Amino acid sequence: TDTTLVSDLTARLRDVPDFPKPGITFKDITPVLADPRLFGRVVNAMSAPFRGQHVTKVVGVEARGFILGAPIALALNAGFVPARKPGKLPHRSVVERYSLEYGSDGVEMHEDAILQGERILVVDDVLATGGTAEATAKLVSRLGGELVGFSFLLSLDFLEGPNRLGRERVTTLLSF
Ligand code: PRP
Repeated sequence: TDTTLVSDLTARLRDVPDFPKPGITFKDITPVLADPRLFGRVVNAMSAPFRGQHVTKVVGVEARGFILGAPIALALNAGFVPARKPGKLPHRSVVERYSLEYGSDGVEMHEDAILQGERILVVDDVLATGGTAEATAKLVSRLGGELVGFSFLLSLDFLEGPNRLGRERVTTLLSF
């Protein structure tokens, strides 16, 4: 295993105060992505727990979940499926809405993106409240997929995301 990954990641994530709103500190992963060795180690560590679990599709959540999800899909010999913000996909789609502190958001997937019984890994950069990931999991099951688990680069555990999704299904490289 990659014993220095946590400290190397911690050193390279950039904290951006008051983004996107005052009082929120944004964890910027772009310095990690810009380093090919570190990016590769992240992809490897986010895939490793799911090797041998017969994942057939990786669902990556817009937008940073696309960046991580695509190489993880290839590492697992699985296909890649984008879960997008509503209104972006060209073909017939299914949408799942979820509530935020103010207003609501949603995720959308093509209705034929997952076949009955396919084994699905959901990938995103950050787990915060878990609303996005939970809605994505609902879409997966509506389409007949079987959720194998969730893989995140980091989770903000004080927001209770892991409890909302079920701790045993969640893998994360770093938590704050
Ligand atoms: C962020 C993050 C997750 C989501 C997590 O995406 O990448 O997708 O929020 O929050 P939650 O656990 O509270 O649902 P964002 O909405 O910033 O979209 P973007 O990646 O397209 O910028």
